[in-house]
Parts: sequence; structure tokens; C-alpha cells
Amino acid sequence: MKIAPSLLSCDFSKMGEEIIRMDKAGADLMHLDVMDGHFVPNITFGAPVIKSVRKYTDKPFDVHLMISDPLKYAEDFADAGADIITFHIECDSDIDKTIEKIRSRGVKPGLVIKPKTPASSVFPYLDKIDMVLIMTVEPGFGGQSFMADMLPKVKEIRDECKRRGIDILIEADGGIGETTIEQAANAGIDICVAGTAVFKAEDAADAIAKLKSY
Ligand code: DX5
Ligand code: ZN
Repeated sequence: MKIAPSLLSCDFSKMGEEIIRMDKAGADLMHLDVMDGHFVPNITFGAPVIKSVRKYTDKPFDVHLMISDPLKYAEDFADAGADIITFHIECDSDIDKTIEKIRSRGVKPGLVIKPKTPASSVFPYLDKIDMVLIMTVEPGFGGQSFMADMLPKVKEIRDECKRRGIDILIEADGGIGETTIEQAANAGIDICVAGTAVFKAEDAADAIAKLKSY
């Protein structure tokens, strides 16, 4: 299993140091949660912050946009140093145009689905994206409980990909830690986001190693 620590749970007064800490602790990617206070009832940070912390690691930046109009800001996040940009299928932007805009800046596009959104909603875009991010909590806040009933979505997406002869990365986000990761691994998730479980652990390296072992 690959682990992407969610910086949402870091100490924002030293975000650069927190990234270095996660890099040394064995993180595979850095997950950056962008919230606009409109698509979700919370506000975090934007492209300038991501750009300023880009220099602290060579690990890929997995930028999760929880914003209403990702098309408008896709270039900013690409230019800030994102390697993967995922945005919600429930957003207000044109989905195809947003995928194309991200791709045109040399960044991998991905689609995110909220818990109430069916897996089949991403089927029309599977040929154009590199990743599907399945939310295992309602987006907006860290520290919520894992929704195991989201896991059948993995098989639905995998089956559709197989039918078309394509391969895609599947990531899960929300409530993942020592007690829930096994279910995610068994369901066939490639990358797990972990905020609380990694940042609040006494020893981040130990926590990440345990999660990666699944
Ligand atoms: C929720 C965010 C998640 C969150 C995960 O909207 O997308 O990335 O930070 O945090 P934990 O692991 O604490 O649920
Ligand atoms: Zn996230």
C-alpha cells in the first residue's frame, strides 16, 4: 500500500518542516487538501502556499481540490508544483475541460467522488484520467470515521476498467488508520490518504511503516 499523509492535520505554522518530517518518515506522496469554504464548509490554503512548500521534498504532490470551480484555478495549482490534481465530479466546472486543462500543464488529472456519488459517475471519464479518489468520509474535515460501505466502489471501477482494457490508480481518503487500512487494502485500493493516523501518531515513521505493510 502507498501512503499519502494529508497535510490538513499538520502544524501549519511549520508546514515545510512537517513535509520534511513526513518525507523522512516514509511517505510515498504528500496529500494537500484545498478547500474553498464554498464546495465544502471549511477553508484551508491555496496555490501560493503549495508553491512555497514545494521545495521541501521531491515526493509527488497529490493535490485534492475541494473547490466549486476547479477549471478556474487548475493552472495555478499545476504551476505551483502539483504532480496529480484531483477534483470533485460534483463541482460546477466542465469536467472534460478541467481534465484537459490539468493534462495540458503536464499534470496527472483525477476525479474524486463523495460518499453519496455512485462509482458509475466516473465511467465516462475513465479513459482520460489517471486516478479516481474515493472519499471514505464526507469531505471538509479530518478526523472523521471511515465509511467501509464505500469500498464496493473499488470493484465497480476496476471491473469497468478491465472491460475497457485500461488501468487506473484508485485512492481512498478519510478515516484511514491502523484499524481500517486492512479493509481498504483488501478492496484493492492503491493509495491511502492518512491525516490524523499519521500526524497524531507518537512516531510517524512507525505509523507509516505499519500502514504501508498492508
Ligand atoms: C477530508 C480530506 C482528507 C482528510 C483526511 O476532506 O480530504 O484528506 O484530511 O484526514 P483523516 O485521515 O484524519 O480522516
Ligand atoms: Zn483529501
